Amino acid sequence: MTGIHTLNQIIADAASAPSAHNTQPWSPRMIGDGVAVELRVSRRRTLPAADPTGRDTLLGLGAWLEAFSVSAASHGVAFDVELLPALADPEAIVQARSDEPVLRIQLHHDTVSSPGGDTKQHAESAFDPDSERRMLAARQTVRSGLEPARGLVLELSGSLPEWLRLVPVDADDLRHFSSLGTADTLREPAVARELAHWLRLHPSHPRYTVDGLNDKALGIPAFATRFASAFTRKRRLRDAAVGVAAPLGELWRRVLLEVPVSAADEDAPAEATAFVLVADTKLLDLGSGAEITRVLNSPLGLPPARVLEAGQALMRLWLRATARGAAFAPASEVIDSSLAQGELRYRLGLSRRDVPLFVTRVGVPRDAHPPRAPRR
Ligand SMILES: Cc1cc2nc3c(=O)[nH]c(=O)nc-3n(C[C@H](O)[C@H](O)[C@H](O)COP(=O)(O)O)c2cc1C
Repeated sequence: MTGIHTLNQIIADAASAPSAHNTQPWSPRMIGDGVAVELRVSRRRTLPAADPTGRDTLLGLGAWLEAFSVSAASHGVAFDVELLPALADPEAIVQARSDEPVLRIQLHHDTVSSPGGDTKQHAESAFDPDSERRMLAARQTVRSGLEPARGLVLELSGSLPEWLRLVPVDADDLRHFSSLGTADTLREPAVARELAHWLRLHPSHPRYTVDGLNDKALGIPAFATRFASAFTRKRRLRDAAVGVAAPLGELWRRVLLEVPVSAADEDAPAEATAFVLVADTKLLDLGSGAEITRVLNSPLGLPPARVLEAGQALMRLWLRATARGAAFAPASEVIDSSLAQGELRYRLGLSRRDVPLFVTRVGVPRDAHPPRAPRR
């Protein structure tokens, strides 16, 4: 049986995974003194307004599972993962209608490799498990200040399963899509309120060192946070700010819609500094005709288990980038906003069966030690 201490360490490492708004939605529970781990989604750690389909929640859970796997490999612990029925309904999870476990990790004590050796899950990994585990702690999210990393997007592309691909995005295009996505999502008071709820702009916030997005991680200067922090802590001020954000978002969106976007062409940037992680549903076995239609018309456009898998792949990309000294600066607003996503699809020539899952800039951070986001 895996020692409790080792398992606790693996679970602690898994918590280093990235998550939208740093909500850390995972809630692992050890079963039978280390025989298994059940993973639930914490009811108060989802984003019903910003992530109604559960895409970001599932990507975060996938990243958690990959971090678990990396740490388990370095501790010489092998395991199997069983996906549980609750995973099939991400909307129920996000809307907190269900808190059933979504997966069960069964630990093996007979097929364990030596610590630091390959486990079943990591047999194909090109990295040695101990250095990969060090990447968990070194992985970075930044919001600005990235220098291009030559050839990195191409290099990262090589590590994906066939049905996932990285589509390079031009930096100027991304700036436009990101502004449009931000303006469009700010128009939704529930989204703006949810963001404000997860902002911790001053150390006096009771959850400053626990979760959410703090001023340091966001790179907000001190003078601005002193003014803004009251808005995130006091409900009345927060509601007033949200009320102002909506018309400003609407105005900004109208201006941005005047900017013409050209259709897909051959000038994809050779030295890309940003990419979209895209799932190609044509390459997935989605079952019979009726089943394919049901999946393609579902809000996720993919079976939830595949989004979880994409989260694992995303974490592997992030760790590989880390090994190259690079960081990610994600821009999920480009996918969250149907307007921005539509323009992105048009520009990149994505087909109806392509599902964009994650958009990020990637490069080497100018600040070698950017502040780390807190963990519970
Ligand atoms: C699915 C997903 C979506 C994310 N979207 C954004 C985003 O739109 N903007 C952003 O700045 N960070 C985004 N992030 C990064 C998180 O904010 C970050 O992982 C979290 O704050 C924890 O920080 P860390 O990655 O440095 O540990 C995203 C992360 C995930 C997993």
